[in-house]
Amino acid sequence: MKEVKVFDTTLRDGEQMPGVSLPLNYKVRIAKQLDKLGVDVIEAGFPSASKGEFEAVKEISSLNLNAAVCGLARIVKEDIDAALDADVDMVHIFVPTSKIQIEHTVKMSREEIIDKSVECVDYIKSHGAKCMFSAMDATRTEIDYLMRIFKAVEEAKTDIVNVPDTVGVATPFKFYDLIRQLREHLTVPIDVHCHNDFGLAVANTYAAVLAGANEVQVTVNGIGERAGNADLAQVVMILHSIEKIKTSIKTEYLFETSKLVERLTGIKMPPNTPIVGENAFSHESGIHAHGVLKEFSTFEPGVVTPEMVGHKRRIVIGKHAGRHQIKKILEDAGYVVDEEKLNQIFEKVKEIGDRGKRVTDLDLFAIAEVILGELKREERAINVEEVTVLTGNKITPTAVLNAEVFGEKKVTSAIGVGPVDASLKAVTGLVGESIRITEFRMDAITGGSDALAEVYVTVEDEEGHSFTARGAAQDIVMASINAVINAVNYLLRMKKK
Ligand code: KIV
Ligand code: ZN
Repeated sequence: MKEVKVFDTTLRDGEQMPGVSLPLNYKVRIAKQLDKLGVDVIEAGFPSASKGEFEAVKEISSLNLNAAVCGLARIVKEDIDAALDADVDMVHIFVPTSKIQIEHTVKMSREEIIDKSVECVDYIKSHGAKCMFSAMDATRTEIDYLMRIFKAVEEAKTDIVNVPDTVGVATPFKFYDLIRQLREHLTVPIDVHCHNDFGLAVANTYAAVLAGANEVQVTVNGIGERAGNADLAQVVMILHSIEKIKTSIKTEYLFETSKLVERLTGIKMPPNTPIVGENAFSHESGIHAHGVLKEFSTFEPGVVTPEMVGHKRRIVIGKHAGRHQIKKILEDAGYVVDEEKLNQIFEKVKEIGDRGKRVTDLDLFAIAEVILGELKREERAINVEEVTVLTGNKITPTAVLNAEVFGEKKVTSAIGVGPVDASLKAVTGLVGESIRITEFRMDAITGGSDALAEVYVTVEDEEGHSFTARGAAQDIVMASINAVINAVNYLLRMKKK
């Protein structure tokens, strides 16, 4: 079975994404996660770019990860020395090779570029490091020149050559042909680096593998310059699940890796992102959800499951929801519903959906409670009695909650970065560390400073059960507390059942 290596450049090209700048401790956390994920190479940064960048690369090199650590360098001695001083296993040198980039960005002739590249490969190899050579803008470079420079660095014993589609203009068939041609004339391993300007980065990377590329450059969540780079999870799962081509990636960590990078970079993935997006395995439409509940591969690819990538399948309620999925959600939460009651609940859900409202799990349960009978005070795990919140420019926001938890009086307090944060910490403090808030969204329903605030909160327990609930109040703190308490009450109730 063919095996392809994974070169991750989240910490280098990914970090070049406008708006992303990672402090050293974030870079280290991501590097450790990438190592856990099983990537073969981590491009940790561009050591000569700044002191901070040098220190981050050096720190990552010192972690003794299983993955090889790589540093980027131009074909200048100072850059290469910075990478070598940062103790990297591999130096990745790059130089423009297309007519347009040579003319406008380097003051060298084509022959000088080849000579300098060979000299740099020799220099890196003589220092005992591995070398990757990139012909920048390869896809807009004349093929004869590209072949000549790759042949020259191959003879100089570079360990691998990289074919970057720097401005994302390649298309799968053309890129396939290019890689095929290079593969036929070179013996050195070939790596590809695709940008996503036309949304083809993953398709081009895939085409390159089919044409004989040995390694793929990818980033977590596809972050990178402009429209980004080829997305790691998508490329890997296409290879694993569709082509049965092996990589070293432990796919069950793909989702958690994506979430970590989302959190640390602040770049949130749209819900419809393949493989790792919130909706990647979610079903709302009645027909689909019904099919999936019987046999998941009816309306999913089948060759990739949420478990394979560390994700979860979700049945979402909305105006497209079907009876079966509503019944399943209710039964999973411990409700017993007969056909007549189910019909009434179903009609109510449709009515809310038709009004353009999102129907959360909690909305469904609230509807069910009304139709099946109220959730009694003693059935609620938490009843909040009193809330006190202090905030101001001279004090640390603090919240004190007085509540009954499983029938027992409790008082908790917490501090936070603001009054909402402090209150939410106090609420989760009531039930212990095992419950965490994974999503929080606040909207103003009406205009003006007395607007009604609507808060959506998702809470999750340590076993991965999660509930989304809504709270509304004119006071943003109370709206937030209500939402969390609602979600926690139902989560605990479901666990009990
Ligand atoms: O896009 C590109 O060409 C690069 C090189 C440094 C490989 O990022
Ligand atoms: Zn790039």
